[in-house]
Amino acid sequence: MKITAYEVRPDERNTLERLCTEKGIELVMTAANLDMTTVELAEGADGVTTLGQSTFSNEVYDKLKEMGVKVVAARCVGYDRMNREYAEAQGFKLCHGSYGPNGVAEFTIMTILMAIRKMKRAMANTDDKDFTLKGKQGRQLGSLTVGVYGTGRIGYHVIKLLKGFGCRIICNDVYENPVVKEIAEYVPFDTLLAESDVITLHAPLLPSTEGVINKETIAKMKDGVILVNNARGGLMNIDDVIEALENEKFGVLAMDAYPGEEGIIHMTHDEDIVTNFAGEKKSWLKLQYVRSFVNVIHTPHMAFFTREAAEEMCAAGVDGIYEILTTGSSRHELPQD
Ligand code: COI
Repeated sequence: MKITAYEVRPDERNTLERLCTEKGIELVMTAANLDMTTVELAEGADGVTTLGQSTFSNEVYDKLKEMGVKVVAARCVGYDRMNREYAEAQGFKLCHGSYGPNGVAEFTIMTILMAIRKMKRAMANTDDKDFTLKGKQGRQLGSLTVGVYGTGRIGYHVIKLLKGFGCRIICNDVYENPVVKEIAEYVPFDTLLAESDVITLHAPLLPSTEGVINKETIAKMKDGVILVNNARGGLMNIDDVIEALENEKFGVLAMDAYPGEEGIIHMTHDEDIVTNFAGEKKSWLKLQYVRSFVNVIHTPHMAFFTREAAEEMCAAGVDGIYEILTTGSSRHELPQD
């Protein structure tokens, strides 16, 4: 059996090597994304594994099929970019990662606390030897209402952690999870928007959730609301979010995910000149504008990035392919929609 692993970070190399050696799998690794310029690295492979920035175009799948690849296993949880319909119609089996929700949930709690305690300003000011309390008065989480949008594994874990702070927790999801109901109150989406001091997003990016944060939904939120997006950039209509930032609607916008971040995040741009790029670099310019607001906290899609999760992601990539090729199915296959 042979696997080609794309988007391999330095910290993943040893784990992938060990996992493949244990199973007698031949492994080819590259840091490059899977796309039409790199697809031939999968020549002779039975399966390929990627993270979240590869190009899953029809053309790429056609080429993979021609070369005999049968399984595509993303090591990340989100599979919104995998072009599922086309891939499955071509007979591919698709898998995704399934690491524990703790890392992202803990990161979310940290972000919420940073937002309500004005940490961005405090750190910037003290770095600049300004030790005043100006603009630094915060709020206590226990006296706030937190709205959790999306109550799957991560949303549920966030709710469990929030419980300890004594805040009111309201939530919304198309599927009402009975375990969540025991510790939080499901409310209609409009109620969540209107009553939350902090809104944290944990929904997958689907046609039904794309742009769910937009002009209309933002208008229903409290003035000074804290919006946390550690899920997917596409949940936000970025132009509407920018307008709201300009109108001082948000207390804080904290985002670990940004729409159009592929090709931007997880690499350095320290020598790039910010200019009025058109086309694919447009999102780069907008991101610089969004980042320039004093009340925006932006991190480079790192909520997932813990040693524990990285190990589980590599295991899911390798096991997904191995299980399908040896037994016909896998625990890591995409869920039924
Ligand atoms: C995921 O696992 O879905 C993530 O968001 C992390 C990934 C893009 C590396």
